[in-house]
Amino acid sequence: MKVLVTGGLGFIGSHTVVELQEQGFEVVIIDDLSNSSEKVIDGIVAITGKKPVFEKIDLKEKSKVEDFFKRHNTIEGVIHFAASKAVGESVEKPLLYYENNISTLVYILKELSKKDKANFIFSSSCTVYGQADTMPITESAPVKAAESPYGNTKQIGEEIISETCKVAPSLSAIALRYFNPMGAHPSAEIGELPIGVPQNLVPFITQTGIGMRQQLSVFGDDYPTTDGTCVRDYIHVVDLAKAHVIALKRLIDGKNVTNYEVFNLGTGTGSSVLEVIHSFEKVSGKKLNYKIVDRRPGDVISAYANTEKANSVLGWKAESTLDQAMKSAWDWEVKIRS
Ligand code: UD1
Repeated sequence: MKVLVTGGLGFIGSHTVVELQEQGFEVVIIDDLSNSSEKVIDGIVAITGKKPVFEKIDLKEKSKVEDFFKRHNTIEGVIHFAASKAVGESVEKPLLYYENNISTLVYILKELSKKDKANFIFSSSCTVYGQADTMPITESAPVKAAESPYGNTKQIGEEIISETCKVAPSLSAIALRYFNPMGAHPSAEIGELPIGVPQNLVPFITQTGIGMRQQLSVFGDDYPTTDGTCVRDYIHVVDLAKAHVIALKRLIDGKNVTNYEVFNLGTGTGSSVLEVIHSFEKVSGKKLNYKIVDRRPGDVISAYANTEKANSVLGWKAESTLDQAMKSAWDWEVKIRS
């Protein structure tokens, strides 16, 4: 069974390609290499023994998208990761984000709408909830006004898919709202490869631990949480990748209840920034140099998932602990810097 993974050489994409191949799917990757490297294919081959087909395509080029689906007319499912994801950059360059994240989605959906049957998995984010009023966050929590163009592209993306599904009954889609992905494959053959200074907490911690960064800034310790630092739901990328395969199979097997469904993907446990730092110190045996600084504008206080729907309906549950995910992130950092 042939599956297209857009952004398949990126962080979550590459881990999902591994899980798909390990379960016998034939994978075709589209990636424009704007935030990834062709070398990731070597890591995928090292783990699975199978080389996915790779096409370097910029999905903003509509004619190339049309041509791709003509050439690959036996594709049964699409997992769409390809998107820009830096919140700060999106505020500086909103049009870049709307073009990269929205036009590409529209072009793919147009092609899928032409098929007799098409299955589509979308990378969404817990960012759609903003600061939710109650924890843990269920899928029925209201979608709040987006804090950034990046967040808005996820909300608009979900709306585009849901509206398209209403008029294209041959299309079935699932939006997966990720909480905070972290970690790397336990083999340390693939992992996160941030370009430049990492914006996210975990790669900044591991780069500080390895000596690439001098100090981690902890953005605020005066929040109304147990230790004053923000709380998030950190999920191992391999657990996240497995959920994509389960979601895709649900659609392929026709087990979906409606042709557009939404699931939270998190562990259900909230961890503060200081707890994440302590986890790093525990698994690495290193002291982390960090300093408390001012709050980062736009940060929510707390966000962790109610995972009941994913557990009972998808039959999926995150298995890794924060320490296990952190150990994999640290092993990967050590490997790529040695
Ligand atoms: C961020 C985005 C979110 C997006 C996700 C994609 C914001 C407000 N949210 O999530 O929309 O889906 O990235 O990966 O940007 N922290 C520090 N020091 C650092 C970095 C982070 O203290 O150097 C803290 C943050 O204040 C936050 C936590 O660590 O409390 C996690 O931050 P981060 O990894 O950037 O993720 P989110 O902000 O949750």
